[in-house]
Amino acid sequence: MTPEEWKGKLSAIKDSFSSLISEHKADYETLYQRFLGRKGELSLLLRDLKDIAAEERRNLGVLGNAAKQELTAAAEKIKSAIDAHNQRCSSAPAIDITLPGVNFPKGSLHPLTQTMDRISGAFLRLGFSLASGPLVEDDWHCFEALNFPECHPARDMQDTFYVNAKDDRGKDKLLRTQTSTVQIRVMEKQNPPLRVFHPGRVFRNEAVDASHAFAFHQVEGLYVDKNVTMADLKWTVDAFMKDLFGSSVRTRFNPSYFPFVEPGAEVDMSCIFCKGQSEHCPVCKGTGWLELLGSGMVHPNVLKACGHDPEVWSGFAFGCGIERFAMLLYGINDMRMFFENDFRILEQVR
Ligand code: PHE
Repeated sequence: MTPEEWKGKLSAIKDSFSSLISEHKADYETLYQRFLGRKGELSLLLRDLKDIAAEERRNLGVLGNAAKQELTAAAEKIKSAIDAHNQRCSSAPAIDITLPGVNFPKGSLHPLTQTMDRISGAFLRLGFSLASGPLVEDDWHCFEALNFPECHPARDMQDTFYVNAKDDRGKDKLLRTQTSTVQIRVMEKQNPPLRVFHPGRVFRNEAVDASHAFAFHQVEGLYVDKNVTMADLKWTVDAFMKDLFGSSVRTRFNPSYFPFVEPGAEVDMSCIFCKGQSEHCPVCKGTGWLELLGSGMVHPNVLKACGHDPEVWSGFAFGCGIERFAMLLYGINDMRMFFENDFRILEQVR
């Protein structure tokens, strides 16, 4: 072999080595075996040097060894890149694309919010519009204007929490005990005729048990116009209850006392569970009736306190606890479940 032929072979080997690399056609083992191993093309070519004249051999040997180092370095670079890749793959967790996806928990409205929405719907369909008032109230709106004079025994049933702040009349502000406060707020600002409903949170100094809480919710409706009578109250309450619980429910009025109405009545609804058919019904206790609302004709003193002439205007109001409705609607028997935030209860009502 002439030195020129030898150089030609060397550059052909280098070319095929680099084209394999640039086309990503070979891994380290293949490259090593084909070019650098004992029987590799480059190793054989270097062995051929022995047949070349001594004066040329030295130069070609330098070229050949440089080529060997170059190819070895390039092959090793590939090897370390592949090793690093394999390392990454084996330490990363395998993804099983056949597994079902992670369930994303859906939120829902709280049962009390849902109940309030249903009740609001019933009021809106009867033509009442939404009103609201503050939770921190003054003595006037919570009691005095509602015909609970100072020291009136009816105040005892509505003991509440007082705030370290005085109202306009120098009395301690308080957390409202009933949504009836909004009757006063509306009638002070608006002249009759008016037809409003007002849902919201109320507070009382109560020990917590299955049917009492220190914070709960009420809603009530107020209608003031000329010639409003008890018959209007009875029809409206009956239509309201039928909207919420179905057209077969009946309502019954029992005389009762609330300072801001005269006459006043408690309203019972026929038991939606046993329909009055079971002596042992755990909900109505066999009476066939569920006591649900307070109601009555707006007291003349209340109209006067808001600046309206009771000889001209008359009206009715009725109200109820939202927790009580929600307990009936969703079969929940302990009021505490509404604020314990147990997902099992919240998920049940969707
Ligand atoms: N505010 C009364 C209560 O909390 C309920 C009620 C509302 C009674 C409207 C009559 C009319 O007990």
